[in-house]
Amino acid sequence: MNIERTFVALKPDAVQRGLIGKIITRFEEKGFKILAMKMLEVTPEQAAAHYAEHVGKPFYDGLIQFITSAPIVAMVVEGIDAIEEIRHIVGATNPDKADVGSIRADYSPLMKCNCIHASDSVASAEREMRIYFDVEKELCTNWKTMMEVVLDGLQ
Ligand code: CMP
Repeated sequence: MNIERTFVALKPDAVQRGLIGKIITRFEEKGFKILAMKMLEVTPEQAAAHYAEHVGKPFYDGLIQFITSAPIVAMVVEGIDAIEEIRHIVGATNPDKADVGSIRADYSPLMKCNCIHASDSVASAEREMRIYFDVEKELCTNWKTMMEVVLDGLQ
C-alpha cells in the first residue's frame, strides 16, 4: 500500500459533454485527494510532450488534433495506490474492453474520444503533471481529506 500521486486529464469530449462534475465525483467519493486542478487549452507543445511516446502511430495526428480541440481539465490526484486504482476507475483505453461501471465504459463510445487520461506509472505521472503544472508551486498539499482524518483515527 503506497500513497501515490497521479496525473489525470478530463479530455475535450468530457468537457464538451458536461461530464466534469460526474467524473470528478467518482474520485472524490472513493477517497482520493485532488491536489491541483485547472481548466486549460492544451498548446501544441504540451500535446506533443504529453503524447511523445505515440509519435509515428497511425492515430497520433488525430490524437493531437483532438486534445487541442477544446479545453481539458488537468488534475493531480493523490491516494492509496493511486496509479493502479485510478486506472481501474477509468477503465481500459478501448471502451469496448473497459470494465462495467468504469468511466470509459459508462461514458465513452470510442477509443479516440475516451473522456479521460490517467498516468500508467509513477514515472509517467511525474513527467505528465510537470507538462501542465508548476509542481513546486501549484499543488495544495497542506490539508486533510475526511478519508485521511478517518485513517488517522484508526492508526
Ligand atoms: P490515453 O490514455 O490518453 O493515451 C493515448 C490515447 O490515444 C488514448 O488514451 C486514446 O484516446 C488514443 N487512441 C486513439 N486510437 C488509439 C489506438 N488505436 N490505440 C491506443 N490509443 C489510441
